[in-house]
Amino acid sequence: MGFQAPGSTLLLAACLAAVCSAGSAGSDAPRGVAVGFVFDPRAKCEPPCEHAGICIRNDTCFCSRGYEGETCQYANCYPKCKNGGQCLRPGKCRCPPGFGGRYCHKVTCDGGCWNGGECIAVNGVAKCICPSSWTGSKCQEAICPQGCRNGGICVAPGICSCLEGWLGGACHTAVCTQPCLNGGKCISPNKCRCRPPHSGPRCEERRKSH
Ligand SMILES: *[C@@H]1O[C@H](CO)[C@@H](O)[C@H](O)[C@H]1NC(C)=O
Repeated sequence: MGFQAPGSTLLLAACLAAVCSAGSAGSDAPRGVAVGFVFDPRAKCEPPCEHAGICIRNDTCFCSRGYEGETCQYANCYPKCKNGGQCLRPGKCRCPPGFGGRYCHKVTCDGGCWNGGECIAVNGVAKCICPSSWTGSKCQEAICPQGCRNGGICVAPGICSCLEGWLGGACHTAVCTQPCLNGGKCISPNKCRCRPPHSGPRCEERRKSH
């Protein structure tokens, strides 16, 4: 069984005689040990005490400060590691992905949250909460509620970057560098739809009617 008496390591070190009892070192002795205990110099602990624990009786380890367990194999972290963190050595936590800080108490979003997004823990998982006009795991994608048509891409909230030949808030307006004539309509880049009886690339021709 593990034997812990935090703060009494000094007292133990001072007791090299066969029998130690609390208070034997004087009234200003550390008050960690409530009852006296027997320290057997020939005691054997198998498996041996770890992390500088001292074998005080057969198969009984007296652990150094910060360790516990039958063979003092477990480190203690105070405060405890939060969010599933693992105590590596006293006061040192190894945090699961998404958490950081000395006690794994801080949420960290891998790569951060962009554009004003906020990193919070949702059911133990770190995630970015994005402002209304951004989306994506890091809030890296802008939202264009109007949509970006004809190959345009949304580059900022409500703003489309259009392919050449298209204009407008949603890249919905085709551009004809030469205007369409005679009531023709520019329906895609440099392409006119003509009103009868007109035809030609710019609707400049008039079919002969009989
Ligand atoms: C501790 O164990 C050893 C054998 O491993 C034994 O000889 C000895 O008597 C034991 N000591 C006590 C106090 O039980």
